[in-house]
Amino acid sequence: MNENNKTGGLRPIEDITPPTIYRELNRGVLGQSTALRYVSVAIFKHTTGKVPGNILLIGNSGTGKTTIMNNIQRLYHDVPEYDSFRAMTIINANLLVDSERMEFQPSRLMAAVEQRARALTGDKPTPEALKAAMERATICIDEIDKMSSVVAGKPNAIGVVLQQGLLTLMEGELVAHTTHVWVDGEEVQMVLSIDTRHMMFICGGAFETLYDQVYLRVANPSSGEKMKSQAIHTADGQVRIETRFSLTDFLKPEDLFEYGMVPQFMARFDNVVLLRDLDTPILKEILLKSVDSPFQRSKNFFEVLGINLEIDDLAAALIAESAEKNIRTGARALRTIFGKIINRLEFDPWSHKGIEKLDDGGHRLVITPDMVRRITG
Ligand SMILES: Nc1ncnc2c1ncn2[C@@H]1O[C@H](COP(=O)(O)OP(=O)(O)O)[C@@H](O)[C@H]1O
Ligand SMILES: [Mg+2]
Repeated sequence: MNENNKTGGLRPIEDITPPTIYRELNRGVLGQSTALRYVSVAIFKHTTGKVPGNILLIGNSGTGKTTIMNNIQRLYHDVPEYDSFRAMTIINANLLVDSERMEFQPSRLMAAVEQRARALTGDKPTPEALKAAMERATICIDEIDKMSSVVAGKPNAIGVVLQQGLLTLMEGELVAHTTHVWVDGEEVQMVLSIDTRHMMFICGGAFETLYDQVYLRVANPSSGEKMKSQAIHTADGQVRIETRFSLTDFLKPEDLFEYGMVPQFMARFDNVVLLRDLDTPILKEILLKSVDSPFQRSKNFFEVLGINLEIDDLAAALIAESAEKNIRTGARALRTIFGKIINRLEFDPWSHKGIEKLDDGGHRLVITPDMVRRITG
């Protein structure tokens, strides 16, 4: 990755500062600078042996919650200095409870962590090595909002079970974990006592009804809250005054309790971070530049065929604009729209009328605004 590594020298872990971590994450996560700052600081603390502080990410569907988790994993993997932190797992909250027995089941989580840890320790780990690798884990729990204590107005007991189980784990607990390890050249079954105190927890969820819930509270004249007015400059040079409701301005812990989060569970989070909705310029950048962007993926595909895939700037803007209209799916819509456009090209690029032969013998295919309009209407 950098010069040092070629010669085998690694940086001291303290030298990988939050801004460095941020830049790396920012290659795959765009437009969420606030959230990335919190995450970068937490990773810095975690990797330098301090208590990282647990984070709760709240954001509408398709704003990047799961993408942030995936990019933390990519970071641990790409940065050689972080190899001892690679025991990381991303798991959906509902997989941590047995709904028939009404029980919290950390065993699934521990099994996933163990599997990652074994990749670090080799296939014949000593109990000490396996325990140490597991205890440095980063644990991302996705779709936490689905495990609310209230669902559609009805009590949801399993949600309480999950939140209570998780809160104990996040506080720092000794979890008995049965596994196989190697002692004096022999494989033995052993119960490891895994201390969760130094693990880092990041939870995420969309909390879909939270927005309306808080809006209604704030809009109520007796609430004493006041929404901010803002001057909006439109593309045609006009200025309008708009009163916009932004969840960031008003969200209180009590709102999350009312949503159905157990107060003691919420108290385990040092930071509750809201992700912003993505606007057209950011969606366009995601389409073109993010590590995992749909355009880059297709470009790689066409490269194999000897075709240089390009996209007209307006075409990219049109795709982004169309994705923004799908308000409930966020950046996920990019993939859908782009997928429809590109499928026609991937199916039989050679007979496409847009294909051009270049002087050097290669080929070029440009995604034009017309191709986009044909799909988006
Ligand atoms: N902030 C972002 N930066 C880059 N890509 C994003 C971002 N948000 C969403 N995406 C893309 O959109 C898709 C859905 O995002 P995801 O993170 O799964 O959304 P959610 O917030 O619902 O978990 C993914 O393919 C991802 O690549
Ligand atoms: Mg998600």
